[in-house]
Amino acid sequence: MSVSKAVSSQFSSQNSIENRLQIQRLVEATRIVAPSAGSDVVKGLTQTPKSLPPAYFYDDRGSELFEQICELPEYYLTRTETAILKQCAGAIAKITGACELVELGSGSSTKTRILLDAYNQLGYPLRYLPIDVSAGILESSAKQLLADYPSLQVYATAGNYELALAQILPTQLPNRMICFIGSTLGNLKPQECDVFFSQIIEPLQVGEYLLLGVDLQKPKNILEPAYNDSQGVTAAFNLNMLEHLNRRFQGNFDTTQFEHSCFYNETEHQIEMHLRSLRSQIVKLDALNLTVNFAASETILTEISRKFNLDILQQQLTTQGLIPLNVWTDPNQWFGLLLCQLQRA
Ligand code: AVJ
Repeated sequence: MSVSKAVSSQFSSQNSIENRLQIQRLVEATRIVAPSAGSDVVKGLTQTPKSLPPAYFYDDRGSELFEQICELPEYYLTRTETAILKQCAGAIAKITGACELVELGSGSSTKTRILLDAYNQLGYPLRYLPIDVSAGILESSAKQLLADYPSLQVYATAGNYELALAQILPTQLPNRMICFIGSTLGNLKPQECDVFFSQIIEPLQVGEYLLLGVDLQKPKNILEPAYNDSQGVTAAFNLNMLEHLNRRFQGNFDTTQFEHSCFYNETEHQIEMHLRSLRSQIVKLDALNLTVNFAASETILTEISRKFNLDILQQQLTTQGLIPLNVWTDPNQWFGLLLCQLQRA
């Protein structure tokens, strides 16, 4: 796996964007070196009920659609978390001190700017390690950030979280903070959360930080429209996963023969997003040697989006040695932001 300077040029000055940017591509690397690539798709589509991992939403088109979702009037999450961050970014920077920011699922890094501004204002050096499965959005947002923050250094990794986290180098700053905002934690089942927390603790030293943003439990009549928007962007986002699989694994999903279906499961406190087959049909994914039979109305679960209870989550974090230092929320208590510190021995 190679770490490539985006451009190495004898013409670039010391502080040029190219000198402050490194991008590591685990995505392509994974495709070549890992024969297991796509085994998660095979597993999900041969199980009953069928499911697919939500990471497959985010090809470049999917990341673009997600950016559109964040702007939708029904999708309160991004707006609410942004408002909270604006309130508490200064406090976070003060508590953590000079800090390397590692972000999982960085996407457009729009909200991260609020944090970068806060550290910048206190005169702290800016080191940012975004990790995202979508190489396109990772590279374009990194370049935009570098243009806007003249002293920023970016070490970007295109790949999944486990691989990327496993190879982070020691930080050169006094502290490190892993940012997992945007409620992506909601994609994980409760047991998967525990495994995940143990993975994020790995690159942290005792006393270092996790910043976690989570969507909170609230009435169905607010939740369901957020995932069934009137413009159909969420439906397009959901269906785009099939296009992504077609391209990636030589498939022949016909997206006109599936429909978006989404509801709040009140018992499990989770939004469930499905793709429903409109008729009985057979789909092939040649690169995976896979033939899948669908009955009429059969569904594929493409995403769970869990809605958290702050008390329970804080207990779970504490059990993992991640002590919540501060919890911020909005006046409606729709969204929560938790600053946790890895327990001192
Ligand atoms: C990125 C996982 C937080 O669950 O709200 C948005 C993804 N799915 N609309 C969410 C999503 C449908 C989003 N997360």
